[in-house]
Formats: sequence, C-alpha cells, structure tokens
Amino acid sequence: MSALRITVNGREHVLSAPPETTLLALLREHLGLTGAKLGCDVGDCGACTVLVDGQAVNACLMLAAQADGRSVLTIEGLATPDGLHPLQEAFERHAALQCGFCGPGAILSAKALLDANPAPTGAEIRDALAGNLCRCTGYTKMITAVHAAAQALRGAGAEMPPLGLTASPSIPLPGGEKGGGLS
Ligand code: FES
Ligand code: FES
Repeated sequence: MSALRITVNGREHVLSAPPETTLLALLREHLGLTGAKLGCDVGDCGACTVLVDGQAVNACLMLAAQADGRSVLTIEGLATPDGLHPLQEAFERHAALQCGFCGPGAILSAKALLDANPAPTGAEIRDALAGNLCRCTGYTKMITAVHAAAQALRGAGAEMPPLGLTASPSIPLPGGEKGGGLS
C-alpha cells in the first residue's frame, strides 16, 4: 500500500491505496467522487478528465501515486455555494449535453482552457475538447457553450470571437482519432 496525501476539491485527504491504483479509481472508489466517468479506460474518450494542478489529465491513465502532493479538481468541486460555474450554466443553457456521460470531462477540459486563455477562438476550443468524445451532441453546442461561458467569465460586454464552426460530419467512435468529429 502507498500512503498518499492529495488535495481534492480543496480538501486534503490522507489515503493508502495499492500502488497500481489509478487516480480515477481513487476518486471513484476511495472518495466516492463518481463525476469522473470510466469510459474506455485507455485514454481515448476523455470521460475521466480531471484537473491536476490545473492541467486536464485522463485520470484513467494516471496513477494515484502520481497525484501525491498535488491538487485535483473534479466536477464535484466546480460549483460554489453561490451556484453553478459559468461553464456548467452554459452547458445547460445551450443544451450541450444529452446523456451527460461526457459532460464532466468536457467541462473540465474547457475550464483548463479558459483558465489559460480567457478568450479562445473556435479552433482553440475545438483543440481543447478534442480528447473528449461525445456520442450524443455532435459538439457544436458544446463549443457554443464554451464561448458563452468565456464571455460570461470575462464580463457581459465582452466581444465574442468568431466561432469558426463548420458542420460536424460525424460523431467519432471510441478508439477512433481523438476529437475526429470536431470540425
Ligand atoms: Fe479515461 Fe476514457 S476512461 S480516457
Ligand atoms: Fe452523451 Fe456526450 S452527452 S456522450
């Protein structure tokens, strides 16, 4: 067993887990945080995306031991007592989710983007979401939602960069090229 000290959603946890435990298993099975989903389990779908020290990572590919001493943000830590995060509000308002399975990962990938780049272009949003596969929405509404959230975070008067969207010809299958449906 490995002793771990990990801050998750602002709260420090001291845990012990077998060395082969992934960060995803630690979150879901040891801490009961099931927002990060187990999809492909091989780094293809992005359903398990969380932020580690602000960087989007596939928690299924990261060992819990690699997160020792670091700070993890999951979807459960995004809202505040005052309400949902603007990304969560925008995904809801723009119907960017249907079944919702991809949502926590997509929203956290978008958060990492907006933290680093408050006014992303459509191409930059597509790049940021390229590792988050969705079987339901076709992505266009997600990209619109990220633009809306960026605008809300910058202030209502901010000018919206061009979306630069084209039609999404297909929804990629798991195991396919990451983000192949984003166009
Ligand atoms: Fe981690 Fe698919 S479950 S990338
Ligand atoms: Fe169903 Fe994305 S909303 S997988």
